[in-house]
Amino acid sequence: MLEEIKRLKEEKDVVILAHYYVDGKVQEIADYVGDSYFLAKKATQVKEKNILFCGVSFMGESAKILNPDKKVIMADELADCPMAHMVDIDKIHEVREKYPDVAVVCYVNSTAEIKAESDVCVTSSNAIRVVEKLPNKHIFFIPDNNLARYVAKQLPEKEFIFNDGFCHVHKSIDVESVRKAKELHPEALVLTHPECTEDVLEVSNFIGSTSEIIDYATESDATEFIICTEMGVFYELEQKNPAKKFYSVGHRQFCPNMKRITIEKVREALEKMEPEMTLSEEIRGKANKPLVRMLELAQ
Ligand code: 13P
Ligand code: SF4
Repeated sequence: MLEEIKRLKEEKDVVILAHYYVDGKVQEIADYVGDSYFLAKKATQVKEKNILFCGVSFMGESAKILNPDKKVIMADELADCPMAHMVDIDKIHEVREKYPDVAVVCYVNSTAEIKAESDVCVTSSNAIRVVEKLPNKHIFFIPDNNLARYVAKQLPEKEFIFNDGFCHVHKSIDVESVRKAKELHPEALVLTHPECTEDVLEVSNFIGSTSEIIDYATESDATEFIICTEMGVFYELEQKNPAKKFYSVGHRQFCPNMKRITIEKVREALEKMEPEMTLSEEIRGKANKPLVRMLELAQ
């Protein structure tokens, strides 16, 4: 299977991009694995004519928005992030009317249609850096409420308007389970994704994106960690740190959409060169502006 994927990739001039939440076997065959920011940036730098995306649809959309001339193929077209739909476009218009100076800041975990209505995109690794640089006082941060509250806390000079979107995977990581894990492993540091709820963030030693969590654990002198994000990150954590121990907080740290992607589907997508990610030129053009602005401001 691995040999065949390699052959098809070369024959068809395809680069495989994968997110840290996909299954370890898929991460193993990918050319690049990363967090959402790394993958969006990488999509603009690769030389291959075709990108095969192993992640949920908003990630493939971003790759297509930033690279209209490349063919973007999804390993599974039904892999979709529920949070990406959790804001009403009418609500964006209402907020814009009420606060004429507002910046609509859109977490990349959002559909292309929502990005098209926004001023700038952010990811969990650059949100503070990007929002800090905006001249606007009012910030309407969509769709994630938890990430918005975390960013707002770091930037008290801004006035945030919140939306009520959430990631069901990170929301299911409850503070009681984190406390229990800590009782079992008192020496372990708690590393948490900012999509988690505020009470979980409060008991954490470090808060960051998937890549930042992996880098933190790798560079740390500590040897035990409790990981509060989707379990896919364990693959890279263990690859990079065979002598360190990583604990989960229960069995709900599982994104069913990311786990739809298998190496069998990757091979099939390479063989057929489909399903292809397509977007109307109108939406693509509008959604490109906030993504490009993010890439510029996050430098
Ligand atoms: P990052 O990899 O950017 O931290 O994103 C997490 C996530 O939920 C992606 O769906
Ligand atoms: Fe969406 Fe959460 Fe899955 Fe990330 S982990 S893709 S935010 S549902």
